[in-house]
Amino acid sequence: MDIQDPSFWRAGAVSTTLVMLVVLAFLSVDSMRYITAGGINVPGYEVINQHIGYEYDWNRRADVPVIGGPEPLFGKVVAPAEAAALMRTGKLVIQGRACMDCHTIFGNGAYYAPDLTKAWLDPAWSQIWMPMTGKATREEAMVEFLMHPDKYPTWTRAMPNLGITEAEARATVAYLKWLSAIDTNGFPANFGRSMQ
Ligand code: HEC
Repeated sequence: MDIQDPSFWRAGAVSTTLVMLVVLAFLSVDSMRYITAGGINVPGYEVINQHIGYEYDWNRRADVPVIGGPEPLFGKVVAPAEAAALMRTGKLVIQGRACMDCHTIFGNGAYYAPDLTKAWLDPAWSQIWMPMTGKATREEAMVEFLMHPDKYPTWTRAMPNLGITEAEARATVAYLKWLSAIDTNGFPANFGRSMQ
C-alpha cells in the first residue's frame, strides 16, 4: 500500500461511496415501512371508519393514537378506494389553499395558527365549536367551521374564509382524521390538555 499513490485514494473514495449507497438504499426502504399509508406508524386511509383516541403510553412516555371500534366519518363506512379519493382531494385543498402559510402539520409550516396534526382530536370541537355551530357531530362542526371560519372565531386570531366548498371541506376533514391516527411519537406533546 502506497499512500502517495493517487489510485489508493481514488479506490478508497469509490468503495466508500458504494458502501454508503447501499446503506442509503437500505435506510430509504426501511423508512418507507414506517411512513407509507398502511405501514408501521401510518395507518391505511380506511382508518377514517374507526374511532381514534390519543392516550399516554407509559412505556414510550408519549401520547400514542389508539385505533378503536367502528366510528364511520359522517356516519358512512367508506371503501378503501373512496377513502383514497377523499385523501387526494383533502391533500389538494390543503396544498391549493396554502393552509401551511398559517398552520403547521408535523411541526412544518408557519406558526401563526394551531398545528393541524391532531386537529381532529381537539376537545374544542365538542366543547366550543359544536355548540357554536349548532352541529350534532364533530365532523359536521368541522365542515361548518372550514366553510365559514370567519363566523366562528374562538381566539384573538381568526381564520379567513377561503371559499372552501362543502365537498372540499368534507374531504379535508377526512384527511385531518386520518392525520390524527398517525403515530408521531407523541407530537405535539400535551395536546389538548389545557382544554380539559
Ligand atoms: C391566514 C391564516 C390561515 C390560513 C391560510 C388557514 N388557517 Fe386555519 N386557522 C387560522 C387561525 C388563526 C385559526 C384559529 C382560529 C380560532 O381558534 O378561532 C385556525 C384554525 C383552524 C382549525 C381549528 C384548529 C384547532 O384544532 O383548533 C382548523 C382545522 C383549520 N384552521 C384548518 C385550516 C385548513 C384546512 C386550511 C387550509 C384550507 C386553513 N386552516 C388555512 C388561520 C389560518
